[in-house]
Amino acid sequence: MASSTASISDTEAWKDLKGHVEDIKKTHLRDLMTDANRCQSMMMEFDGLLLDYSRQRATVETVDKLLNLAKAAQLTEKISRMFNGEHINSTENRSVLHVALRAPKDAVIKADGKNVVPEVWNVLDKIKEFSEKIRSGSWVGATGKPLKDVIAIGIGGSFLGPLFVHTALQTDPEALESAKGRQLRFLANIDPVDVARNINGLNPETTLVVVVSKTFTTAETMLNARTLREWITAALGASAVAKHMVAVSTNLALVEKFGIDPNNAFAFWDWVGGRYSVCSAVGVLPLSLQYGFSVVEKFLKGASSIDQHFQSTPIEKNIPVLLGLLSVWNVSFLGYPARAILPYSQALEKFAPHIQQVSMESNGKGVSIDGLPLPFETGEIDFGEPGTNGQHSFYQLIHQGRVIPCDFIGIVKSQQPVYLKGEVVSNHDELMSNFFAQPDALAYGKTPEQLQKENVSENLIPHKTFSGNRPSLSLLLPELTAYNVGQLLAIYEHRVAVQGFVWGINSFDQWGVELGRVLATHVRKQLHSSRTQGTTLEGFNYSTTTLLIRYLETSSEPQM
Ligand code: F6P
Repeated sequence: MASSTASISDTEAWKDLKGHVEDIKKTHLRDLMTDANRCQSMMMEFDGLLLDYSRQRATVETVDKLLNLAKAAQLTEKISRMFNGEHINSTENRSVLHVALRAPKDAVIKADGKNVVPEVWNVLDKIKEFSEKIRSGSWVGATGKPLKDVIAIGIGGSFLGPLFVHTALQTDPEALESAKGRQLRFLANIDPVDVARNINGLNPETTLVVVVSKTFTTAETMLNARTLREWITAALGASAVAKHMVAVSTNLALVEKFGIDPNNAFAFWDWVGGRYSVCSAVGVLPLSLQYGFSVVEKFLKGASSIDQHFQSTPIEKNIPVLLGLLSVWNVSFLGYPARAILPYSQALEKFAPHIQQVSMESNGKGVSIDGLPLPFETGEIDFGEPGTNGQHSFYQLIHQGRVIPCDFIGIVKSQQPVYLKGEVVSNHDELMSNFFAQPDALAYGKTPEQLQKENVSENLIPHKTFSGNRPSLSLLLPELTAYNVGQLLAIYEHRVAVQGFVWGINSFDQWGVELGRVLATHVRKQLHSSRTQGTTLEGFNYSTTTLLIRYLETSSEPQM
């Protein structure tokens, strides 16, 4: 068993897996896939979901060895410590309790000795009441008109998760029906172009602005909030802010200082990491305004179902645990640094961008949780696009270039089925034909012998050969309701945590975002003094000085 300061790579379990890589190198998925018992043991079902990881470059023995690694990393204990509210985010001295955000009302989850579930439900009840007032029109804007449009301002975790869920629900029949006549938009980038796009076509009289920021200090969000406050007050007067702006934050003092009525602030807590906050008011408020609380409650229930599975299922049958272990296998042992997230669902088009933050901000670390340099690399380079769009873009590289483990996510029942009379299959079947075919194309490939039999000309054979043996996994969801979206979110959140627990890092801090932020402060000051007093540039290297001079001399920013 690894002591808290020993690296997981010093354990026998890790070394055993290192040695086992040679065995796996001798295998090909083409052959592994012929073993029905192996494939059967690599299928997992839970609450309507079916996971098939038989196309991973792994044998039953590999999985056993990975489970040993989980034991060496004290994975089960670490999961319990998370659910018990221990301060596992040690560099920020915080609990990690996003699971409490979706826990049933009668659950008991403690942070610092106090059950947090009642506070969670107080905020949820407040959101329910507020969103019903807005949606029913009983809350009106400064000129007496109902507020039918919402702009949610926020960035990173205060944006990507809510955007993913919003995009996933947009075409769900129940959510679609309940969003009739309403719009939800997201303003994230400090690029003024994003402001222009967001307010385009909206009337301040009928718009509610939700400022979402855990800290309420993030430069982009605060300047965007001031910009939209100006948009509202220029049209409706300063007093309109009370009716047209609300906030979600852990920092209620700063919310009030900004000028938002504290009664119109929705709290969350420092035990919710930004990228794990979509189930707090961060996501629940904007989504309830758009779809109604009852739809969003289903999303929370789906996530909670996975939380319970993750907390209580033995590791060999635990979906997030198995997925996390397989990712560790791919990254640390097989040496595949990237992962493609490929949902065969347009509704999931914002899933990969969200998981990029959840995964890369969590696990892109250089030291262990004890601050020791890691003797191996952590994290994954995540990217993805919905199928079939990705097929016409980067799949060439995945099939014949670099080996990138792929997550194929498919949906059994389309949100919007279409069948045209006379067509061979329905539109959704057409989509899903690709979902089923691509993993086999990657796994089996195509040999020169097969091509010869097809009379392919000799000069083209090398170009048309597919090496195969490229790993993927398939996750099949019964449909894409709010409930299933919650399940999918929680699976990936916990999978990322599992990877971090095994690597022995802190997956819940993000010091790596600080340095660039601090340097931008220096540039901001310089831009101000150069523009207002013509001050010469100071303290920058040759490269940055040259670029800044070009920018200052040729830009036409409005006069200060
Ligand atoms: O990118 C750094 C980060 O702190 C993220 O972790 C977070 O989601 C984002 O900035 C936004 O922070 P806040 O919600 O405090 O505005």
